[in-house]
Amino acid sequence: MPDLRLSSPAALRNRDPILDAIRDLLPPPGLVLEIASGSGQHCVRFAERLPGHVFQPSDKDPRARASIDAWIAASGVTNARAALALDAADPNWPLAAADAILCFNMIHIAPWRATQGLLAGAARLLAPGAPLVLYGPFRRGGAHTSAGNATFDRDLRNENRDWGVRDLESVEALAIAEGFTAAAVTEMPANNLTLVFTRKAKLPG
Ligand SMILES: C[S@@+](CC[C@H](N)C(=O)[O-])C[C@H]1O[C@@H](n2cnc3c(N)ncnc32)[C@H](O)[C@@H]1O
Repeated sequence: MPDLRLSSPAALRNRDPILDAIRDLLPPPGLVLEIASGSGQHCVRFAERLPGHVFQPSDKDPRARASIDAWIAASGVTNARAALALDAADPNWPLAAADAILCFNMIHIAPWRATQGLLAGAARLLAPGAPLVLYGPFRRGGAHTSAGNATFDRDLRNENRDWGVRDLESVEALAIAEGFTAAAVTEMPANNLTLVFTRKAKLPG
């Protein structure tokens, strides 16, 4: 049988720093939805380290979903579900609620409408007080945070003109418009940021 597991060196490097940054935000026992799970290595690591939570990985790419499921099977974790087909840009998501939502390294490698869909979907699924956690490279104050990120951004835009490192402030403005707080920002290794948005109480009407 072929081994369908994909491996991401970056995910192996950043999985523990990300987990350290967010573990106290995830309310146990709770359903943690991960959007754009990629290889699945984050999901499996988090499920191993946080056995009181249930992890729901997802990705729009069938090859990623096969990898996620293969990593889950190989790890033997029982608190991670099979990967869902979920395109953040699509307004129809295949589940109705989650206690927290994670999305790492998708926003810069997808058209802006995926970010719009992500924030709208998170607003639909999360109850007041629940966190939406984003991780990746972002511009701040109209500038890249490193020369490496500027080069990365140029490469992304050359590959696909709809991709690119986004302005933190643009993502935050959209999040606030969807009913989230401003971002709590943590600087991470390799010039990445963790952004935590908390769902505010829904306004009547
Ligand atoms: C760079 S990988 C990141 C994977 C993983 N989150 C990580 O940090 O290692 C980007 C992932 O985003 C997924 N993706 C891109 N656009 C998406 C969308 N509109 N909805 C859901 N997933 C998407 C891709 O299929 C890919 O698995």
